[in-house]
Amino acid sequence: MNMASDHAHDRPHEPPSSGRRRFCQACIGGAAAITVGTVVYPIVAFLKLPVRLGESKPVQIPLDRLIPGQAYYADFHGQQVVVVMSESGPRVFNASCTHLGCNVVWDTAHSNFHCPCHGAVFSGEGQVVSGPVSAPLLEIPFEVKEGNLIIS
Ligand code: FES
Repeated sequence: MNMASDHAHDRPHEPPSSGRRRFCQACIGGAAAITVGTVVYPIVAFLKLPVRLGESKPVQIPLDRLIPGQAYYADFHGQQVVVVMSESGPRVFNASCTHLGCNVVWDTAHSNFHCPCHGAVFSGEGQVVSGPVSAPLLEIPFEVKEGNLIIS
């Protein structure tokens, strides 16, 4: 008994190459979805930039809660800021990528920032390492008072 020929008789209306066609259609559909996502996500992320100016509540973080090599995100003037505790002390940056404004993500393993939108990489000091960007992350001034880091 030939199983392959029996199997072919089960689906008389389906051409033998339909499985390959479905696979190709799935690949094309997946590639189209990835392309659309790659284009749409940065646009949506750019348009979603918070612009709630006027909220001027200072950010206050106890210094003893900052662990070296870790980053802490906070909302300041409607923008995300990120505090990094380096060996030389804390640094504060605007988390908006200087390319198109997506928020950068801290990579603890490499002690740098990467941008999820177009792949820019910034050092832990906010300097450009690679990617479609030429300006470093904007550094935010802060003060230390009574054991607290204060951004105001
Ligand atoms: S927004 Fe394009 S690399 Fe960050």
